[in-house]
Amino acid sequence: MHFAQAVAVAALVLSGVSDAVAVNPLPAPRSISWGKSGPLYLAPFVRYSGTRDQNLQEAWRRTFNTIVKLRWTPAVPDVPFPTFDPFPTPKAKRDDIGYRNSIGQVNVKVEDTKAKLSHGVDESYTLEIKDGSSSIDITAKTVWGALHAFTTLQQIVIADEQSGRLSVEHPVMIKDQPLYPIRGIMVDSARNFISVDKIKEQLDAMSLSKMNVLHWHLTDTQSWPIEIKKYPQMTKDAYSRRMTYTHGDVKDVIGYARARGIRVIPETDTPGHSSSGWKQIDPDLVSCANSWWSNDDWPKHTGVEPNPGQLDPAYDKTYEVIENIYGELSDLFEDEMYHIGGDELQPNCYNFSSHVTKWLAEDASRTFNDLLQSYVDRLFPALKKRNDRRLIAWEDIFTSEQMHAKKVPKDTIMQSWNKGLENLKLLTSNGFDVIVSSADFFYLDCGNGGWVTNDPRYNIMENPDSKTPNFNYLGDGGSWCAPYKTWQRIYDYDFTDGLNDEEKKHILGGISPLWSEQVDDVIISSKFWPRAAALAELFWSGNKDDKGQKRTTQMSNRILNFREYLVANGVGAAPLQPRYCLQHPHHCDLFLNQTAIV
Ligand SMILES: *[C@@H]1O[C@H](CO)[C@@H](O)[C@H](O)[C@H]1NC(C)=O
Ligand SMILES: *[C@@H]1O[C@H](CO)[C@@H](O)[C@H](O)[C@H]1NC(C)=O
Repeated sequence: MHFAQAVAVAALVLSGVSDAVAVNPLPAPRSISWGKSGPLYLAPFVRYSGTRDQNLQEAWRRTFNTIVKLRWTPAVPDVPFPTFDPFPTPKAKRDDIGYRNSIGQVNVKVEDTKAKLSHGVDESYTLEIKDGSSSIDITAKTVWGALHAFTTLQQIVIADEQSGRLSVEHPVMIKDQPLYPIRGIMVDSARNFISVDKIKEQLDAMSLSKMNVLHWHLTDTQSWPIEIKKYPQMTKDAYSRRMTYTHGDVKDVIGYARARGIRVIPETDTPGHSSSGWKQIDPDLVSCANSWWSNDDWPKHTGVEPNPGQLDPAYDKTYEVIENIYGELSDLFEDEMYHIGGDELQPNCYNFSSHVTKWLAEDASRTFNDLLQSYVDRLFPALKKRNDRRLIAWEDIFTSEQMHAKKVPKDTIMQSWNKGLENLKLLTSNGFDVIVSSADFFYLDCGNGGWVTNDPRYNIMENPDSKTPNFNYLGDGGSWCAPYKTWQRIYDYDFTDGLNDEEKKHILGGISPLWSEQVDDVIISSKFWPRAAALAELFWSGNKDDKGQKRTTQMSNRILNFREYLVANGVGAAPLQPRYCLQHPHHCDLFLNQTAIV
């Protein structure tokens, strides 16, 4: 211990100041070490110095303004467990500590300001406040790493409870970088429309939790909200003229996201989940659009939810139209990846197509799998030729028992949502790169009951003591993927279990989908947040500590605090527990044993 530290410690002992301001940001950094020299105060203005870059300097202005505006105090007190002390000693004033210095500068050094916001770009950073320093030192390989340093910093600078002055515990050294290159959420803007403002609110929360991919499920059977200049008639199938996105809106979202280090990957779902929009161009593009979806007569069902509709793989014009839309949107969205959908194809739907019926009749050996194979073989190379992007598809295109292609180009990224670990193994062992979206863990829309109407299953008068409560069809809570996925369910998912080292390399990251059948602007933020933050940390620094012990119990304090921080930042995140629990850390744990989760 050198002299300065000794003085500081002495001052701390005299004034009874604890190191309670050493708050832990979310996601937990890969490495963070706090000294105990006590808080340093922030000067009224903290000057940016170092690497000149417009994006960075704007981000710093935003960060500093937020720090000053919020004057944040952690919501969860940092107290040891168990305390059960009804009259905790009030914290001492921090005014009379040894340091007079205040922080007046942030030094940012970025090696490569030209690095594009692209898949696998270096997102590492270091953040250091040296003992007694008057500056915060940030280094990063790229702008995108430095942005993460800012969102860490804004969570560890807090307002002193008594004086209200902004301070940060120090010295502190943080070395940080993500475990996985894809960490994101999926917004569905087709089942219900989501406004640009609400999408930006999600981007705010994503940047605070260091997520870097917005997967935008733009279209589905129910509506077509995205403007296509080549086919302006498609937005006749938006819910209203206002419930559309112009190219300008998209650029606005992309710019807002990029400023926060977030890529926007568009998805136009094809060939399944396709009716609205397409049928305005040519009704023959869409099979079974006018059928009854037949969930009540399952052998005949044409869709898994109303309204049915699938693009016709046996109709030549289908390819021309998909290619044109892909060309226009992949230009507009710019990202190196493009999601072509590919989920939940229903063979019965194609019985309504004269083109398919004819195609099948031409050769008695042809099956529905062959039909999808012909689609993949024709479409994928054509898209690549048109506008070279890495294609993402829902895994169904390869794994579905109902209809799948046997051969899918190996550079296709598979987004896995079925059968948890089993499908992750299947896909990675087949050499595919995979995005983890396992429904049993990551689907944020589950557990709201069924949303289809005219449902007699609700009209059953059961004895409340019955072992089969009447709301219990199709799993607890009455939706196909019930129950509701809690943040703990998300955080505890050991998605690489059972994978060998080679297979593990194929996991690119995770995306939490929120299908919007029962979601619109009113509740989208409370559905995503703070639960998505559990996924953010899972893919940033993992769910285990240095010793390999699951740290869900510690995460509970972080996520409770982070929820309050989101709300302070204008994100309508849902409460997770009675406020009592965040004011009394761990008093609401199920087990007294703090290592009960292994
Ligand atoms: C659709 O066509 C297939 C193949 O011809 C047939 O096996 C299936 O029963 C048909 N489905 C319906 C609902 O008619
Ligand atoms: C706490 O729980 C873990 C996991 O079940 C167990 O291994 C450990 O022995 C428990 N500790 C105590 C003190 O009961």
